[in-house]
Amino acid sequence: MIRFLTLWASIAVAVAADTFEPSGILLTWQRDPTTTMTIDWHSVDGENGDIDIVPSVAQHKVPITIPVVSRPRAAVLEYRQAGQTRWIRTTGKSEPFPFVEERMSGLHRDGYSQPFPPQGRTIHRVELTGLLPDSRYEFRFDESGKAHRFRTLPKTLTREVRIAMGGDVGYGVWTERMNRVAASHDPDFAVWGGDIAYGDGERQRLGRWYGFFESLTRSLVGKDGRRIPVVIGIGNHETFGGYYASAKVKEAIGGPYVQNDATRKKISPYFYSFFAFPGQPGYNVLDFGDYLSLILLDSGHNNPIEGAQTAWLDETLRARAVVPHVFPVYHVPAFPSLRALNDPSVAGARKHWVPVFEKYNLPVVFENHDHNFKRTYPIRNEKKDPENGVVYLGDGAWGVLVSGLAKDLDQRWYLEKTEPVNHFILARLNGPSAQFEAINIKGETIDRYTARRR
Ligand SMILES: [Fe+2]
Ligand SMILES: [Fe+2]
Repeated sequence: MIRFLTLWASIAVAVAADTFEPSGILLTWQRDPTTTMTIDWHSVDGENGDIDIVPSVAQHKVPITIPVVSRPRAAVLEYRQAGQTRWIRTTGKSEPFPFVEERMSGLHRDGYSQPFPPQGRTIHRVELTGLLPDSRYEFRFDESGKAHRFRTLPKTLTREVRIAMGGDVGYGVWTERMNRVAASHDPDFAVWGGDIAYGDGERQRLGRWYGFFESLTRSLVGKDGRRIPVVIGIGNHETFGGYYASAKVKEAIGGPYVQNDATRKKISPYFYSFFAFPGQPGYNVLDFGDYLSLILLDSGHNNPIEGAQTAWLDETLRARAVVPHVFPVYHVPAFPSLRALNDPSVAGARKHWVPVFEKYNLPVVFENHDHNFKRTYPIRNEKKDPENGVVYLGDGAWGVLVSGLAKDLDQRWYLEKTEPVNHFILARLNGPSAQFEAINIKGETIDRYTARRR
């Protein structure tokens, strides 16, 4: 039965169907992207098949997706290598969304998120292992349901590997448009360095995640219908209060911050529930065959920059001294296009991480948070160094409002190119060569950079 909460408008309604369609699908990895895939999908929990529908009459006139309620489901899917006839059934785990919206009115409470029905939702997760490298696979949630596709990564760089890099993603129409622009370049996967749906760990911002996952599921799809996996790092908007040291965090946990898994999940509930990687403690490394390591760092949101995390970064880079492409990705920039240089996370990253990047001779590092495009000069020892410097690419403007550049830009000696524009960075890896192309929301190339070899 369908109940309308208000009579604002008449809308076409999707009713409970025989074939299950998830309200969100997210592919990522917890390890080896050449032989595994982690598949998350979300279901809308129904009660006796009822669903409360909120008509789509938000002032921005953007249509909303009406989710299809399902009967309780288990984390079961079927998959097969493309071209094979036999499906393999596999089982994973389910857990509820971190919050259930209890309000009976569908009006958006925070003034930005879309109206949405008040049902709970469940996250289902399966990790497929023992897959063949550089191979196409299909998966489905029901025998009669749609077959979705993915592709594993190659073991060596026998072909070009493409990555759509960015951050500060958002949850609305601009985000979806940028997803489509990025997907049109058929990347093997995407990397988002924090500020994903601007949920801030707040229950009342659940609707932003609903919109985010619905949009991602529709739009982050490659040319052949292949779903594009995403590797996601933490930002201030994944965290209640933004930073572990904030007064808001202290107030929420009733005292000083304690570094443990339970406390981190309490202040970043969506992040650890929705994304299998990086997992606890909020930073991690992912190795792709013999050619690429992605290092996701936490710029002060759940962990201090200095101390254990910096020691881990040093060890992680030491162990990857011969990997040709090593990309650290984090949220708050060491060399910002907008924020002040003495901001604690900005200064912390510059003081503790930059010397480690220089020590291990990294050519390129990815930063976010400032909602602009930027490319720095190659930097070493706080000076331009065209021969041996590290270039910082950023600054996170996938689908959010751009911020505008710093007023003292003429004093920021390190910025070679800046533009306040929504964009993503397409990385192309060919053997030891890495090229980076910044592409704006209209699909136009605004910058090209070829990194020095490591
Ligand atoms: Fe942001
Ligand atoms: Fe941010």
